[in-house]
Amino acid sequence: MRTEDNELLTKVGPGTPMGNLMRHYWFPILKSDELKADGSPLRFRLLGEDLLAFRDSEGQVGIIEPYCPHRRAELFFGRNEECGLRCVYHGWKFDVDGNCVDMPSEPIETDFKQKVNIKAYKAVEKIEMIWVYMGNQDPIPKLPDFDSMRLSQEKLSVRMVLRECNYLQSLEGDIDTVHLGFLHLGSVSSSSFNKKTREQYLSENKSPKYEITDTKNGTMYGAYREAQEDTYYWRVARFLMPCWTMPPGGEIIDHIIVRAWIPIDDHNTMFVSLSEAGRSPVVNVKKGASLPGIDGGLNFEENPGNGFLDRWRLKENNTNDYMVDREEQRNSSYTGVKGIHLQDQMITESMGSITDRTKEHLGTSDQMITATRRRLINAAKELLKNGTIPPGVNNPEIYHTARSGGMIIDRDLKWQEEVKKIEDQAIWPDGSDI
Ligand code: FES
Ligand SMILES: [Fe+2]
Repeated sequence: MRTEDNELLTKVGPGTPMGNLMRHYWFPILKSDELKADGSPLRFRLLGEDLLAFRDSEGQVGIIEPYCPHRRAELFFGRNEECGLRCVYHGWKFDVDGNCVDMPSEPIETDFKQKVNIKAYKAVEKIEMIWVYMGNQDPIPKLPDFDSMRLSQEKLSVRMVLRECNYLQSLEGDIDTVHLGFLHLGSVSSSSFNKKTREQYLSENKSPKYEITDTKNGTMYGAYREAQEDTYYWRVARFLMPCWTMPPGGEIIDHIIVRAWIPIDDHNTMFVSLSEAGRSPVVNVKKGASLPGIDGGLNFEENPGNGFLDRWRLKENNTNDYMVDREEQRNSSYTGVKGIHLQDQMITESMGSITDRTKEHLGTSDQMITATRRRLINAAKELLKNGTIPPGVNNPEIYHTARSGGMIIDRDLKWQEEVKKIEDQAIWPDGSDI
């Protein structure tokens, strides 16, 4: 890859081609319960911009730039009161739309208040997440329409984790299926699994063959290996514009999951997983067999600060080498790092915050990664040169029924057609027709 392409793919700040592309989309960057009415404002960052969120007395969410337009005092220290955030330096007050609604330091007869506002971005709440839109399209695009967003609140499981490297590097870990057999299952022998199960096919053959295809909403791969004599076991996964993935963990027929790798800035990503609660794939292990190193819950920093990057950081992180246990690595676990998520976190962050893609040597198993990069580069260039609005912005229905997961099908069947059949028959998770 050329340096220019790596920069184009990874830089998301204002005015960059990828930053412009990203600014066409909504991002679920905060949980609704992170903000209380008239409660403390919250610092966060999105697409390279420091921002402040607050919830006013009526429950409306404001997303504003963090510095007061008067003399740039930080509004984090402001008073959140009576439907607005008041700067404590000279008392100027702003509502959720960024209007200056009180300016007590100026004579009442001036209309200076009318002329001043603070930069504010649109926010909406859906599935108890706060979605933020930083673009300027008029009318504003609709939210994307994923299956996960139709799960009832009891059924929806939301997870957020800060990852301290570029969004694309994080995302590429999710569409790189080959690492499963090494990073996560490297020390697990195929004899641990029950015969003729998907896990056994997976652990017996660690270098599956691939087929990749562009889709209307992104890219998709099918990785296949022999199952029984006349069947293949296919694992299908997707990338969805601009930074979403659907991993192949469950059964494609009813696997409801989507994962966002939201660019916070060029060097940090917010992982947001929206999936069906209690449906994490059941691993079919032989009685008594264990899967060392796979389990591990997420432990968050106990005393996070209030900084722009302090939300959802794990306790095991790059400052303590992810608490790698070398003894365990020698004896039982492939990595010595606990849990699939943390293993992914460790390995993608280890590449540096923006990996130098000019030094890579991509093999056949990296075709999905290459195709996805191409898709993003092309979309960013199309937008730049011809103003082409990227996929999913004005047609969020293209995300409808997109599914990922495993399936065992006859060897002579075409996997894309089988996926399409399944998606054509899909209904919303709440049982309604699409
Ligand atoms: S700096 Fe905020 S009111 Fe003066
Ligand atoms: Fe992984």
